[in-house]
Formats: sequence, structure tokens, C-alpha cells
Amino acid sequence: MTGDAAGLAARALRDADFPRAREVVEDWFGHPVGLVMHRLFFDQLGPSGVWLEEPGGAPAGFLLGLVSEREPDLAYVHMHVVAPAWRGRGAGERLYREFCARAAGRGCVRVRALAAPARAASVRFHERLGFAGRREPGFLGPDGDRIVFERGLPLDPP
Ligand SMILES: CC(C)(COP(=O)(O)OP(=O)(O)OC[C@H]1O[C@@H](n2cnc3c(N)ncnc32)[C@H](O)[C@@H]1OP(=O)(O)O)[C@@H](O)C(=O)NCCC(=O)NCCS
Repeated sequence: MTGDAAGLAARALRDADFPRAREVVEDWFGHPVGLVMHRLFFDQLGPSGVWLEEPGGAPAGFLLGLVSEREPDLAYVHMHVVAPAWRGRGAGERLYREFCARAAGRGCVRVRALAAPARAASVRFHERLGFAGRREPGFLGPDGDRIVFERGLPLDPP
């Protein structure tokens, strides 16, 4: 793992994290996210996601993800975000390692994530973690091209 994010505490997402995430998410992304961050990822799918916080309890990042119902060997990252102050220090990688380790423990052998082609940090992030991506035109509808990234589990050791 790069940087000093090893000092952050990671745990499964809880329903009570939703309002705390709402408070920061648009600031952290830099644009509105609307219902892309739906409450059900906290209320119903929370135990699959990851919450990362500083020793004092301030949020540092979170990941919304699930194990596919249609393909139970597939773990799927819906979104992940790191507080600007924590970027470039391994927090994003920490979120993925926690999520992937738990998913592998539940029998997943693959992990998939999407990235908007213009989001250079996200594209590079996935490539660096060993994901292979293919661009899918219109994946999310008109003007919704996405790079679909996938790789096997478990992740390689840091
Ligand atoms: C994408 C994101 C989660 C990465 O989090 P992070 O904590 O900075 O990631 P890490 O410190 O673990 O970085 C690992 C790698 O990601 C890549 N990366 C991270 N930020 C980058 C940037 N600004 N430009 C290019 N590559 C970047 C690098 O390859 C980096 O490794 P390196 O420094 O050894 O080259 C963070 O930038 C973020 O929250 N962005 C806004 C939300 C977003 O785009 N989420 C993803 C789509 S849902």
C-alpha cells in the first residue's frame, strides 16, 4: 500500500453512515451525485461496503459495493471516493483491499468497476491495481460511455 492510509480505521458500512456521507460527498466529488449515492447502499447493502475514518472519527473515504445476485462470483464496486486531504496516500487502495478481501471471503473470484473515460485519476487508479478495462460506448445511455474494468480476486499483496 502506498502512503500512510494504513493508520485509518476501516469497517463495514452502516446505515447511520448515510447522512454523514451525504454531508461530504458532493464536495469530495466536485459535482452533484444525486441518487447515484442511493440510501439503499447503506441501509440494505451496507455490510458489503467500506467506511474509512481517521482515528478521531472524521470520515476519510467510503466505497459502495455489492456481490452480484446474477453472478455470485462477481464483486461490483458501484462508487468509491476519498476525502481530498487524503488523496494520493493509499486511501483509495485501502478501500479496495478491504472490499475485495471481504468479497473473496464470500466466494467472489472477480471484481468489476466502472470509470468515466474523462476521470483520469480513477482510470489510472484501476490500471495501477491491475484491472483491465474496455471502453463500452453508451454503457449508461446516450453520452454515457464508460470503461468497464475487471480483474481476478484475490488482489495481489501490496
Ligand atoms: C479515485 C480516488 C478514489 C483515488 O483515491 P486515492 O486515495 O487518491 O488513491 P491512492 O492514493 O490509493 O492512489 C493510487 C493510485 O491512483 C492513481 N491516482 C490517484 N490520484 C490520481 C490523480 N490525481 N491523477 C492520476 N492518477 C491518480 C495513481 O496511479 C495512484 O498511484 P501512484 O500515486 O503510485 O501513481 C480519488 O481520486 C477520488 O476520490 N476521486 C474523486 C471520486 C472518483 O472519481 N471516484 C471514482 C469513481 S466512482
